[in-house]
Amino acid sequence: MQTVVITGGTDGLGKGLALHYLRQGARVLAVGSTPAKGEALLAEAATISAVDRAAFMQADLTSVTATKELITGIESACSSVDKLVLCAQRYRLFGSRTVTDEGFEHSFALAYLSRFVLSHGLRNVMEAARRPVIMNVGTPGIPLGRIHWDDLQLARRYGGTKATLQSFRANDLLGVAFAAVHTGTRIRYIGYNPGMVATGMPDHLPQPLRTVTKVSFAVLATSVAKAVAPMAQLLDGPPGERFAAYRNTRQLPLKGKAFDQRSALRLHRLTQDLLHHRTM
Ligand SMILES: NC(=O)c1ccc[n+]([C@@H]2O[C@H](COP(=O)([O-])OP(=O)(O)OC[C@H]3O[C@@H](n4cnc5c(N)ncnc54)[C@H](OP(=O)(O)O)[C@@H]3O)[C@@H](O)[C@H]2O)c1
Repeated sequence: MQTVVITGGTDGLGKGLALHYLRQGARVLAVGSTPAKGEALLAEAATISAVDRAAFMQADLTSVTATKELITGIESACSSVDKLVLCAQRYRLFGSRTVTDEGFEHSFALAYLSRFVLSHGLRNVMEAARRPVIMNVGTPGIPLGRIHWDDLQLARRYGGTKATLQSFRANDLLGVAFAAVHTGTRIRYIGYNPGMVATGMPDHLPQPLRTVTKVSFAVLATSVAKAVAPMAQLLDGPPGERFAAYRNTRQLPLKGKAFDQRSALRLHRLTQDLLHHRTM
């Protein structure tokens, strides 16, 4: 039986994929920070007779310590992980800068750092699987945002949108660096942009943006059920390259700043240093 680990597996796209793989007969470990959402997922799993293959793992992925504990928990629960899907996200487009107890800016910590730690940290248990795949769900192919090399934590000039966009670009580079660093790996790393999907994401936005986003979702967005189909297809039949990026079903050329290997390795080293110095 294959094992699928999904961060943000209790809501939106992650939950859609969790239910998809439960219906396919897989074992699914869904990670989220809210126990009620985990319980709701398990209740849905019970309605499709899959509760014995579903697990909720509570973790606040803004914390590197909690993310590392999660890795230990996954490793002790599973001898191999076939698929790791990284969906956990909480947009903070407005408001003032918040910093985690470990000293990381919120978007950097949740949307990028947790994905870095999980991608590299679960490598051994994933190498034990037959056809391991990591899917990092974000916005590859969108030419917005950049890495603020001299101020990664945006301590000097913070903006919520700036931080969110930086985390997206950092995830593009994470995939490039993963493939460059682990040259002998069997893991296929996919950066995936699902396009606009009608999830509960706008619920966490401030007004009037919440209403505007909900209205545009109602008109323009794809349903979760539709959006997970091409994701599952890629997860089940990943491309041959160690890293590939997709926008829906379209494979993106790995050109330009977003996928620059030197920048990717630079960010990789900087991230390793940050982790070493702040979470020792
Ligand atoms: N929806 C779109 O239109 C769209 C478009 C492009 C890209 N994407 C990307 O797709 C991914 C999934 O988006 P979505 O719209 O499905 O999101 P969503 O419906 O808002 O779900 C977010 C998930 O992340 C979890 N999460 C949030 N903060 C967390 C924390 N601190 N620790 C652990 N888990 C946490 C949430 O669980 P809790 O609430 O329990 O913490 C929830 O399960 C994101 O990476 C997003 O950037 C989405």
